[in-house]
Amino acid sequence: MRVAIVEGDGIGKEVIPVAVEVLDALDLPIEKVPLELGYGKWEKCGVAIDENDLEILKSCDCVLFGAITTPPDPNYKSVLLTIRKELDMYANIRPIKPLPGLIGVTGKNDFDFVIVRENTEGMYSSIEEIHDDVAYTKRVVSRKGSERIARSACKLAKERKNELTIVHKSNVLKSDTLFLGVCREVAASEGVEYGDMLVDAMAYSLMSYPEMYDVVVTTNLFGDILSDMSAALVGSLGLVPSANIGDKYAFFEPVHGSAPDIAGKGIANPIAAILSMKMMLEWMGYEREAVLVESAVEFSIRENLTTPDLGGSSSTSDVGKVIADHVRNNL
Ligand code: NAD
Ligand code: IPM
Ligand code: MN
Repeated sequence: MRVAIVEGDGIGKEVIPVAVEVLDALDLPIEKVPLELGYGKWEKCGVAIDENDLEILKSCDCVLFGAITTPPDPNYKSVLLTIRKELDMYANIRPIKPLPGLIGVTGKNDFDFVIVRENTEGMYSSIEEIHDDVAYTKRVVSRKGSERIARSACKLAKERKNELTIVHKSNVLKSDTLFLGVCREVAASEGVEYGDMLVDAMAYSLMSYPEMYDVVVTTNLFGDILSDMSAALVGSLGLVPSANIGDKYAFFEPVHGSAPDIAGKGIANPIAAILSMKMMLEWMGYEREAVLVESAVEFSIRENLTTPDLGGSSSTSDVGKVIADHVRNNL
């Protein structure tokens, strides 16, 4: 396996080295290919990603990615969007599961759901028209795009409680009438139990009754917003991992961004990055190693070695070290 390692900017440069330290502790036959992308590259070269970078990414099996700061350039096209589209990674899988001993804003810990976010279209179509007094963004929902994300969500639901919630805004957006209809057809044909919710009501329901949900499938922007919101349920944005999966490539990254407000202080929570690496291990078929990484993360919390976002006083590297040591000692 060849894995591109993209630290990116801000706390990406702090949490990815820690995730790599934990990966190294497993001593697996994985070739790491470091690649610089993002704001730092843009400052040096005027571009945040180029054709050669895309070729390197395509030559790898998958990518472990930190986060990228959006440069202040009106013509800037997001690196993440470019990669997700170019490598056609249409399913963004974001598990929302509390870690033992941690409680988020609602005080609940009896939930375990997964947001399956369509990752290549919707409001992220990049079809935009900018004038002085008006700007347009075209929201694209296709049958093909909806069908393949619905199939990914149903596949996951079948491995879990077989329950799918389709989240949309079809009372206003005709594009979502198509999304809802296709998701219903797919769920019915796959034998998955399904219901649906309008996205505004879903935001309320997730914060009030998160235990009611199993797999949540939605369009691109709604999935983006609901996943950051749901991070508050588990206690920190620094805890939530994600996997961008296509038919060929996969790309693993924390849900959070480059956090310029805390970058350079050594206090970023590395757990979202470590659990993203754990999702990469699962995708590669290293099931036993993935379980070990998760139990090492749980060990660090049991030992009260947490970063300030969780109320602790440990540094990013302290947390990384205890997790990597636990992995090494339990191989
Ligand atoms: P953010 O996710 O970077 O930060 C939001 C808040 O959460 C901040 O207060 C931050 O300190 C905190 N936080 C985030 N990750 C944390 C961690 N691991 N540990 C502790 N606290 C953490 O969102 P933002 O501030 O809106 O965005 C900053 C930059 O990141 C922007 O340029 C944005 O475009 C970019 N961004 C990139 C990605 C990505 O590349 N995957 C994702 C989201 C945002
Ligand atoms: C995420 C991020 C990205 C998104 C941005 C940085 C393009 O917020 O991965 O959730 O909106 O998808
Ligand atoms: Mn986001």
